[in-house]
Amino acid sequence: MTNSIDLLTLRQPDDWHLHLRDGSILKSVLGHTTRVFRRAIVMPNILPPIKTIVAAEAYRQRIIAAIPSKDLFTPLMTAYLTDDFCSKELEDGYNKGVFFAAKLYPANSTTNSSEGVTSIDAIHSLLETMERIDMPLLIHGESTESHIDIFDREAVFIDRCLIPLLSRYPNLRVVLEHITTEQAVRFVEASSSRLAATITPHHLHINRNAMFSGGLRSDFYCLPVAKRERHRLALRRAATSGNPRFFLGTDSAPHLRAAKQSSCGCAGIFNAPYALESYLDVFEAEDALDRLEAFASEFGAAFYGLPLNKSLITLEKCTHTIRSSFQVELEDKCQENLVPFHSGENLRWRVLRKD
Ligand code: DOR
Ligand code: ZN
Repeated sequence: MTNSIDLLTLRQPDDWHLHLRDGSILKSVLGHTTRVFRRAIVMPNILPPIKTIVAAEAYRQRIIAAIPSKDLFTPLMTAYLTDDFCSKELEDGYNKGVFFAAKLYPANSTTNSSEGVTSIDAIHSLLETMERIDMPLLIHGESTESHIDIFDREAVFIDRCLIPLLSRYPNLRVVLEHITTEQAVRFVEASSSRLAATITPHHLHINRNAMFSGGLRSDFYCLPVAKRERHRLALRRAATSGNPRFFLGTDSAPHLRAAKQSSCGCAGIFNAPYALESYLDVFEAEDALDRLEAFASEFGAAFYGLPLNKSLITLEKCTHTIRSSFQVELEDKCQENLVPFHSGENLRWRVLRKD
């Protein structure tokens, strides 16, 4: 990484956790990611979810067709685990290089997760297969029983599901996605090198007050929900610590404004347009600019056993105000809006060029 006062050049980063959706939303959002990131792990919770090799390959082709011609970008596809997912399909998909990893959504934990996994026992043979073939397991780590307080769901999941899972499958490679609590930070720090975690920009910036500041703010509603301030500070310490088991995963999750603001608003924060700038803001504030490149561009690739990107990206210091929304033209020609994270705020850096 090279750094002058006003310019910062680093190895091109990858996004290890991304929602792209499909159809016109995919076409509208993809360029925000490919402008900055060289690869991304694409989440499978579209409608219908990605449960077969054929579906993953077709979705990959739709993504590739939507990449702006100026950008080089590799989508890494995931399988959506269900109780009845066939082990052979998973293994074949991994061996063919179609499935890069598999995603475990506890049933009804988040957007389009109703077909998710009902218990760890229900997917025993899948986990055994994945451990044997060294296929990464990506986990949405929240327990969903209605008596568990929503702010405790991640910590409870670690105690009741993740600890038994890791001891039953000690060689399984696991990523605890979008961690939100100091319990998760401490747990990852104390675990074996088979376990890593991604951290989003929004969980580094907001605590749970953001959802209720001056009214109900659906733009800040995501899952897992943002927690108390002490958890946000623990995440900032983890992300900027230089520990290779914490790396970048934006969890950019676009939902149209109408879907966010309905009587049952969707969970998800659309951070793709300024994700790198958002992380940079945190690393600069924490006096850890020298650790951004490893977090954004090295630790994830190393964990997944992929080569580091050779291309570079340069950002310039230049305070700019984030636009309030991006327009999407839907299939029926209606216009709708996506509101980006940091909408209306100032950020201090912006991407200048890729080399
Ligand atoms: O906030 C979220 N949005 N969390 C998730 O786990 C899913 C995502 C989505 O797909 O919208
Ligand atoms: Zn996600």
